[in-house]
Amino acid sequence: MSLLITGGTGYIGSHTVVELLNAGDDVVVVDNLSNSSTKSLDRVEQITGKRPVFIKADICDKQAMQDVFSTYDIDTVIHFAGLKAVGESTQMPLEYYHNNVTGTLVLLDVMKQFDVKKLVFSSSATVYGEHNVSPLVESMPTSATNPYGQTKLMIEHILFDLANSDADWSIISLRYFNPIGAHVSGLIGENPNGIPNNLLPFVAQVAVGRLPQLSVFGDDYDTIDGTGVRDYIHVVDLATAHLKAVAALSKVNGCMAINVGTGNGTSVLQIVNKFKEVSGVDIAYQISPRRPGDIATVFANADLANEFLHWHAERDLDDMIRDTWRWQSQNPNGFE
Ligand code: NAD
Ligand code: UD1
Repeated sequence: MSLLITGGTGYIGSHTVVELLNAGDDVVVVDNLSNSSTKSLDRVEQITGKRPVFIKADICDKQAMQDVFSTYDIDTVIHFAGLKAVGESTQMPLEYYHNNVTGTLVLLDVMKQFDVKKLVFSSSATVYGEHNVSPLVESMPTSATNPYGQTKLMIEHILFDLANSDADWSIISLRYFNPIGAHVSGLIGENPNGIPNNLLPFVAQVAVGRLPQLSVFGDDYDTIDGTGVRDYIHVVDLATAHLKAVAALSKVNGCMAINVGTGNGTSVLQIVNKFKEVSGVDIAYQISPRRPGDIATVFANADLANEFLHWHAERDLDDMIRDTWRWQSQNPNGFE
């Protein structure tokens, strides 16, 4: 029996593949390499001494997905594949809806055809929209403010409807808060194309001199120091949450959404100061206007993950920043 990991050469996928291989699982990775390369799998092999099966394929390609399911004895799917840049999604909505929503529909259709009905899906805290007050709880109303967020929300609706239609499905939708950090080896980490949109890769690239300075988007929020507060979670803790979710699928009849966060909030300036402390490098920054669509404070209530998955975050902010810095300083140009 193998686990199929869609998007398994990407940032979160590659860290999850490491944890699965270390746990002795058989892993088949499918990725179209639109935002990654197989160099991450070379590094996964360096870390674990094992190499997963890799198939270059697009999840929208039904024939290719049928070939995967007829060649390998797939038991469970962890579905990371998707486009994820919020700003880009507003410029290219059709590509985002097609890739993320159509791709997931094709995947689910093929899973159903092969009677594989266990799934862990990569959702996002973005589905809580703008109006809920943190700590965010899974039962709160959902909404989305951009095409990327809409795709996550639509897919969650599809998953709930599918599970309601057929009790054989066991689905967990993990709502990630803000994944950062890297494997402790410094061999794999986040490798964004172009100028990063997210805070940590941006700060890390300022620290290695690839970017001149950080723009802090707003210092007039109602937070500890006026800058935005988020729930940063170490990517290896996030990876282990997937292993716990796979194990918990046997207890799930239907579809469940579960937050994956630490329950702690950290401001932009706290991140900058921690990065300076850990790396010993000054991070030049300027205060800039608020970024449209941002809200002041986002952090999780992580009780359900603690109770149902028996998972909790083990790595603190020092670990997250230290591992980000190790990855970035050892690989200033990513995998190149
Ligand atoms: P990533 O871009 O590093 O990984 C996604 C992978 O999916 C890439 O390797 C890409 O090549 C692949 N892919 C995209 N479309 C595909 C397709 N049609 N067929 C096959 N492969 C395809 O991103 P990540 O940060 O590892 O995110 C993984 C998942 O987690 C995504 O679904 C993302 O939306 C979700 N997520 C990420 C974050 C975050 O901050 N990184 C937060 C919440 C949710
Ligand atoms: C963003 C996305 C969200 C997605 C998440 C993880 C938006 C509006 N939201 O969340 O949908 O799930 O990434 O991929 O894009 N910041 C700066 N300067 C920067 C970058 C960020 O000050 O150059 C601040 C932001 O204002 C925010 C914090 O840092 O307060 C974190 O930002 P970011 O890493 O982009 O994550 P989110 O905005 O939480």
